[in-house]
Amino acid sequence: MFSNWASDPEVTRFLTWPPHTSIEVTENLLTDWISRYEDGGYFNWVMEYKETGKAIGNISVVKLYEDIDAADVGYCMSRKYWGQGLMSEALKGVMDYLFDVVGLNRVAANHDVNNPRSGRVMDKAGMVQEGILRQAGKNNQGIHDVVWHAAIRDEKSDNL
Ligand SMILES: CC(C)(COP(=O)(O)OP(=O)(O)OC[C@H]1O[C@@H](n2cnc3c(N)ncnc32)[C@H](O)[C@@H]1OP(=O)(O)O)[C@@H](O)C(=O)NCCC(=O)NCCS
Repeated sequence: MFSNWASDPEVTRFLTWPPHTSIEVTENLLTDWISRYEDGGYFNWVMEYKETGKAIGNISVVKLYEDIDAADVGYCMSRKYWGQGLMSEALKGVMDYLFDVVGLNRVAANHDVNNPRSGRVMDKAGMVQEGILRQAGKNNQGIHDVVWHAAIRDEKSDNL
């Protein structure tokens, strides 16, 4: 994780956390994530490249709204693997799991308006754009307009 994506400023450009400056930062984060797996409402996956078994990215539920059976998801991946459809495939798999196994009704995600590549991933996985909240987010580039996309369980098949 450290060498493949978490230390790369190009990967974290539109994210809220700074690139990891040492492997200890990554180790501490992973220790924290692992400790949360006991909680049934915590969802966080590593993406493994099938041919080599390498960890190449991460996709997770960043917020769960238990009262309305909804979740916001987020993701990032090693630059070496961009542009091969891998994150769209992973997001679709995670959405299927959240709808079919966890029983959620809504899965949403958002991106900086200046990061349209991520919006394309959301649409290819079956979400639709819902709207843009002006100056509603802050990441490593500063304050930005936030584009929201989501899928609803019952309309899932209509969008694919
Ligand atoms: C965003 C990210 C996950 C994309 O992963 P990926 O596996 O390369 O995505 P995919 O290959 O599945 O799809 C990318 C799509 O965006 C398109 N795209 C690329 N650059 C684009 C741009 N500047 N504008 C619009 N679309 C763009 C690609 O053409 C592709 O669509 P297509 O298959 O219809 O041609 C990856 O770039 C990443 O990890 N970025 C850094 C972290 C990040 O920004 N995470 C999201 C935070 S909201």
